[in-house]
Amino acid sequence: MRQFPVFLDLAGRVALVLGSGGVAARKAEPLRRAGATIRAAARFAPALLDGVAIAIGADAPEADLAALSAACMARGIPVNVVDRPALCSFLMPAIVDRDPVTIAIGTGGAAPALARMVRQRIEAVLPPGLGRLAALAGRFKAAVRRALPDLPARRRFLDDVLAGPVAELAMAGSTAAAEAAFARALHAADAAPPGIVHLVGAGPGAADLLTLRAQRLLGEADVIVHDRLVSPAVLDMARRDAERIFVGKARANHCMPQAEINALLVRLAREGRRVVRLKGGDPFVFGRGGEEASALAEAGIAHAVVPGVTAALACAAEAGIPLTHRDAARMVTFATGHTREGRLDLDFAALARPGQTLAVYMGLATLGALQAGLVGAGLDPATPAAIVENGGADRPRLLHGTLASVAAAGPGWSSGRPALVLVGEVVGLGAGTVRAMAGMAA
Ligand SMILES: C[S@@+](CC[C@H](N)C(=O)[O-])C[C@H]1O[C@@H](n2cnc3c(N)ncnc32)[C@H](O)[C@@H]1O
Repeated sequence: MRQFPVFLDLAGRVALVLGSGGVAARKAEPLRRAGATIRAAARFAPALLDGVAIAIGADAPEADLAALSAACMARGIPVNVVDRPALCSFLMPAIVDRDPVTIAIGTGGAAPALARMVRQRIEAVLPPGLGRLAALAGRFKAAVRRALPDLPARRRFLDDVLAGPVAELAMAGSTAAAEAAFARALHAADAAPPGIVHLVGAGPGAADLLTLRAQRLLGEADVIVHDRLVSPAVLDMARRDAERIFVGKARANHCMPQAEINALLVRLAREGRRVVRLKGGDPFVFGRGGEEASALAEAGIAHAVVPGVTAALACAAEAGIPLTHRDAARMVTFATGHTREGRLDLDFAALARPGQTLAVYMGLATLGALQAGLVGAGLDPATPAAIVENGGADRPRLLHGTLASVAAAGPGWSSGRPALVLVGEVVGLGAGTVRAMAGMAA
């Protein structure tokens, strides 16, 4: 290791930034974020260094930069002159800032572009709420030391708490709940940690449409409870040794009853396990996520919801259909085509009003009734409509036409995979072009 990294406390101290251009301003920014008072000057004079803790030079005449470097070195003030390694006593790292967690990356000046690349990768995998977790641990530091004076026991406790449900609550911004859970965990430090259930949206199927939070939780979960709409590509992101429990079969319509799924989630959490309840799309959009969240709340189980890309958004993007448009739709409605007591129970008068887009989930089996209801309420059967099958997933397909033509052809066209019906003027906007662009099969 050629250079030794340190973290400098600049709060309330003076940082000299010599130079008047954009580079100097950019270099000043992280110093300001670290609490330094910036002393900016266009030209160098030795008196500028009085009381200075650190100095940066950029965008100044060459002679001034050399004088700055020499004077700093003589007075033992750390100095960095941008792009002049010979004039530097320290190098500026690429920084990942999850205050108070700070990661500095350096390449000894050999490849700053590589340092930036490493930073981007770290940015992508580190949860944005990591700082909140560190702050929580900081607030409990003294209490943890008092409660667990034995170092190995303290380490074990912190390892569990920083990777478990408490951490999830803290990183999600549920500060009060995280503090309460931390205090409980500390109180029962010898007991097993409490379990947690995350209701996680798996998105429409493509693994790269998963949120970063969902990906991280999948990597941490002890057990994954999933249903049929979750694609194998998404499931593959779970820990290899995580238990996988499948709770639904499509074809035979043989699903575990909802009450049993609720009871299963409660039981697994009570065993102290980190449970991911993985649901296609978004858990709170036609996904019974609300019922599961209520059951968990009633049982006093810690839980949190992680949103996912819902089918309407994925299908619209796939087919190039804007769900809203200033000229064609100022409103969008998500409806279900699922029947209640054999009847399509929708407010057709509201759905047939002009200037809106209708996205119907589970609508293929009742397409005829949907069309009849909308037309009966006054919607023109020539209104543009589309069916998108497997949007945002493997081999998507698009059937494009009018409400009347799509209703007539849809059932025969369907391959049986999940499909969404879109109705409204927006469907006519550029769908053909996009279909050609995306190479979607008809
Ligand atoms: C029980 S709902 C679940 C919806 C899910 N929670 C969501 O937010 O997308 C299942 C219905 O969603 C729609 N769907 C789900 N994934 C889809 C996809 N990839 N392409 C088209 N429609 C999809 C279909 O209408 C399917 O019958």
